[in-house]
Amino acid sequence: MRLTVVGTGYVGLVTGVCFADTGNHVLGVDIDAEKVEMLNKGQSPIYEPGLTDILKSNLRAGRLRFTTDVDEGAKHGEVIFLAVGTPPKPDGSADLTVLDEAARRTARAMDHEAIVVVKSTVPVGTNEHVEQIMRGCTRHRVVVVSNPEFLKEGSAIDDFLKPDRVVIGAEDRAAAEILRELHLPFVRNQRPILIMSRRAAEMTKYAANSCLAARISFINEIANICEPLGIDVDEVRVGIGTDSRIGFQFLYPGCGYGGSCFPKDVQALVAFARQAGYEGRLLTAVHEVNESQKHVLYEKIHRRFDGKLRDRHIAIWGVSFKPKTDDIREAPAIALIDRLLAAGAKLRVHDPQSLPNLAKAYQNKFVFGDDAYEMARGSEALVVVTEWNEFRSPDFKRLKELMRQPIIFDGRNLYDPATMRRYGFEHYPIGRPVTTNQMEP
Ligand SMILES: NC(=O)c1ccc[n+]([C@@H]2O[C@H](COP(=O)([O-])OP(=O)(O)OC[C@H]3O[C@@H](n4cnc5c(N)ncnc54)[C@H](O)[C@@H]3O)[C@@H](O)[C@H]2O)c1
Repeated sequence: MRLTVVGTGYVGLVTGVCFADTGNHVLGVDIDAEKVEMLNKGQSPIYEPGLTDILKSNLRAGRLRFTTDVDEGAKHGEVIFLAVGTPPKPDGSADLTVLDEAARRTARAMDHEAIVVVKSTVPVGTNEHVEQIMRGCTRHRVVVVSNPEFLKEGSAIDDFLKPDRVVIGAEDRAAAEILRELHLPFVRNQRPILIMSRRAAEMTKYAANSCLAARISFINEIANICEPLGIDVDEVRVGIGTDSRIGFQFLYPGCGYGGSCFPKDVQALVAFARQAGYEGRLLTAVHEVNESQKHVLYEKIHRRFDGKLRDRHIAIWGVSFKPKTDDIREAPAIALIDRLLAAGAKLRVHDPQSLPNLAKAYQNKFVFGDDAYEMARGSEALVVVTEWNEFRSPDFKRLKELMRQPIIFDGRNLYDPATMRRYGFEHYPIGRPVTTNQMEP
């Protein structure tokens, strides 16, 4: 089929390359000319495992192309995916300005009937609203279908090629069937394609993200209760995670969730629930717990150094909001960096993939580098904020030699207290007993 994807960010680009990979002819449209130029040369503007290979092979095969020309996009696709951003407004509700504009411009340029698929995460009722906008701008038949995306940054290609399920929200049976056919190559492992109402599909996406966010805030709250009581939250985590009704996923205490989805989606759900006359108290608490959790590391550092952070050398490992992505939007590390900078600390920061994004945001406010150990050199404390695999088993002996003081603030509970004791580190995890740097006899 001829497909158009409007918006080639994390979701649109992955959608485009994966549909091209199953034989469709895909045109990606983006207003960012630099991005489009890179993509047409086979260079990915984002870091995502496996993305560059699939991008290049489909460009080479002639099934994939990118343009800044919205009109060309509107004329190309039998199915047109809208995958632009839906960022939060100051009151937490979703800002649909970009989506509305993309829908309007696409509809005006259409020269044939089309199925328009809303891939962006949007409040309940938005698909109907987009359909109205588009029908008002074209004489061609437009049917709008909801197809929320559940991919995870860091494993986006894998998630798209092998989804747990595909959700299609459609009132029009024929359109639902075309969407189902498009997705069949990805569900040969018998994963379900769930066809439901557009409103249920829109709500499913918010409910899924809010449920995952709630589990994280729940275990973080348990960790915060364990800490003053001298209980190791990791024992409790295992104690509850082994219950088959609970399980282990998204039940790891840490310094909060971030990214462009969980924080905004929880708040947007609260906002549209309120408009519908319901006060989402649990979801409001999920968000509040997370906002304060993002400051837990700073508070531990502040306490450890009696508030004397001016000119203190602090190393940070991990800035992206999660491993295997370069995305720093709403990352807990950003909250920490801002507070440490405000307190006058001298930072040396390492992240395996997000340093270019960090450089754009901070320019030369601190030192950053590709070598994790170099960034730790001379530091009075190391703060591990993101659980990249390469931080899990560092060369502790070398690290201790390089640092001015062997102190680790462990924002993801990566290190075993016994290991910390053995190497003589002072160790501050989340919800677990602190290790002082007394060597074992
Ligand atoms: N990032 C994720 O992990 C993820 C997962 C599931 C769902 N979502 C949802 O998908 C949507 C997109 O998220 P994202 O992370 O891919 O966003 P993004 O910011 O990475 O990408 C959006 C892209 O749209 C482009 N754009 C903006 N206006 C445009 C226009 N008028 N025409 C064409 N292109 C335009 C931007 O230049 C950008 O490249 C959001 O609603 C988000 O909530 C994101």
